[in-house]
Amino acid sequence: MTRIELTVDGSSVSDEVEPRLLLVQYLRERLGKTGTVIGCDTSNCGACTVHLDGRSVKSCNVLAVQASGREVTTIEGLAATHTGGADGELHPVQEAFRECHGLQCGFCTPGMIMQAVDLLNENPSPTEEDVRLGMEGNICRCTGYHNIVKSVLHAAGGAR
Ligand code: FES
Ligand code: FES
Repeated sequence: MTRIELTVDGSSVSDEVEPRLLLVQYLRERLGKTGTVIGCDTSNCGACTVHLDGRSVKSCNVLAVQASGREVTTIEGLAATHTGGADGELHPVQEAFRECHGLQCGFCTPGMIMQAVDLLNENPSPTEEDVRLGMEGNICRCTGYHNIVKSVLHAAGGAR
């Protein structure tokens, strides 16, 4: 077992984990952060996307031990990064997905939103092509891509 110390959604965590444990398993099974989901076993779908030190990563592609000493933000802590934790407030990108119907079954949505936030942090005024390229690592099995792209562009146009 290996000791890890990290920050998850603003809380300090100290734990002992097996070196082979994936970050997504750690978040879901040990911390109960089931908002981060597993959609594949090939690192292709992006449903498990979280932020590691502010940049998006596929958490099925990162070991929990690699997150030690670092800051993880999941979909469950995203709103607080913007609102400071005000109850019930959504992050503007979450709000844009809600307004533009950027989800159908919602399974891909946590990963889509985490990826979109990273994309917009890097490029606050993306073109539609920038959005499509920036989101290409995230798959929507409901094929709701049109409204997902619309949501990201809407978020870009609003106050963030
Ligand atoms: Fe991580 Fe699919 S579960 S990419
Ligand atoms: Fe169903 Fe994307 S909304 S997988």
